[in-house]
Amino acid sequence: MQRRDHHNWASEAYVEEWVKRQQAEDPNRAERFQLMCDLLPFSQDATVTVLDVGAGYGPMSRFILDRYPHATCIAQDGSAPMLTRARRLGAPYGERFKTHLSDLFATNWLPTELGPFDAAVSSICLHNLRDFARNSEIYREIRAHLKSGGVFLNEDLINAPTAELKQRYDAVADARRRRTGTSAEGLQAMVHGAGRPADHATTDSFPATLGQHLAAMRAAGFKNVDCFWKDLRRALIGGYVDRDGSESLGSIQ
Ligand SMILES: C[S@@+](CC[C@H](N)C(=O)[O-])C[C@H]1O[C@@H](n2cnc3c(N)ncnc32)[C@H](O)[C@@H]1O
Repeated sequence: MQRRDHHNWASEAYVEEWVKRQQAEDPNRAERFQLMCDLLPFSQDATVTVLDVGAGYGPMSRFILDRYPHATCIAQDGSAPMLTRARRLGAPYGERFKTHLSDLFATNWLPTELGPFDAAVSSICLHNLRDFARNSEIYREIRAHLKSGGVFLNEDLINAPTAELKQRYDAVADARRRRTGTSAEGLQAMVHGAGRPADHATTDSFPATLGQHLAAMRAAGFKNVDCFWKDLRRALIGGYVDRDGSESLGSIQ
């Protein structure tokens, strides 16, 4: 997996440090993980297969497996050190948890033999590609491997829509950092790299704005595309696949 920015996902030491910081923040992510689960278009006792794109050490997969006792999660990632940790986290779930090592830039990154999928989820991964054209292709590839009635939910980092809003968001982020101290700084370091100055952390360097992401999802063929949650430059977006011959949202339970 080619290194695209300051993150070094192939490095055992870097991943060890990153995961330690991220796990300290995991309780704060539970509400969003729950929202993602609540948006899934199937009941809790459904037998379903969910693809976790850029799953890392597997926190989203674990959250789903705990709440959907008949679900199987496929944790896809390009980092061997991450997937080693994911396998540890997923071990209690036996056959319900599988990993798939692949680079999102490879044409055959999708574990097609395990699909088609009832849902795909992704958490703070795709901005790492630093390539919105590839990100948009991945939306199309995911759409093509979802079952009718399925969904793709993607929480990721986005650019502010204007320079003025970027400044405003930076000011809000600074105020939060001042109020919450080290925890918020830890979060910045996870997203932007440990030891990087705060002004770098607020540079608009993500691949696209919310509007561009929503347009790319619609262009990929998703229906009922929306932003389900947003906080400054973090957003949870997604779209559904129509059930054959009917509107997708009509069949959500
Ligand atoms: C910020 S971490 C998020 C991990 C996990 N989803 C979470 O929410 O904690 C981003 C993940 O994307 C993966 N990733 C980045 N670029 C990738 C690529 N080109 N192919 C596959 N995985 C990639 C990294 O290995 C890393 O595990």
